[in-house]
Amino acid sequence: AQLATCHSAWDGPKGTLPAAISACTRCPLHQTATQAVAGEGPADADLMIVGEQPGDMEDLSGKPFVGPAGQVFDRVAGEARLDRNQAYVTNAVKHFKFTARGKRRLHQRPNTSEIQHCRWWLDAEITQVKPKLILAMGATAAQSLTGSGEGITRRRGTIEHSLTGTPVLITLHPSYLLRVRDPKTQQQAHSEFQQDLLTAVRFLSD
Ligand code: URA
Repeated sequence: AQLATCHSAWDGPKGTLPAAISACTRCPLHQTATQAVAGEGPADADLMIVGEQPGDMEDLSGKPFVGPAGQVFDRVAGEARLDRNQAYVTNAVKHFKFTARGKRRLHQRPNTSEIQHCRWWLDAEITQVKPKLILAMGATAAQSLTGSGEGITRRRGTIEHSLTGTPVLITLHPSYLLRVRDPKTQQQAHSEFQQDLLTAVRFLSD
């Protein structure tokens, strides 16, 4: 019965998806997160952007990509003339996973089971929005969408297909740009991320 639930599709009425995501208890992450963060954006967007999971600020605000990684994304998107407001922005995993260090909450990567349980919601979002292109930012999004957990260094900039057949452009996660210290590596990451966003814009204008 567990497996049947996992593989059948969510088929609730249109408009009720965010509430269904908010009520999710499919994996243990809901126990510690403040709230689930559902996707945001036009319900018929051509572009869907998928990150890893909400961070500290997203967990508190209930909106995707509003913290430091979101600011990096917004800056590079502006450079590539990619209008975030026209995209449906979401995450592979809808609840924030962290370990507490005093008052700080340190991000932890979701594991394969959490990614798989949450793919139910990502699939539901894809089914509703029907994007022409999905931008997978980082390894978690790439794994959830394509099923392949292979590192993204060699995959970025290329278009693969989601398990449901939608083209998926693989790119870096914007938080990587915040983490790298070496200026040359930082510059390269910025340039690669910018190129990939330009590829997305071009794909959709063709
Ligand atoms: N990182 C993500 O992957 N998603 C967010 O919403 C914020 C930070």
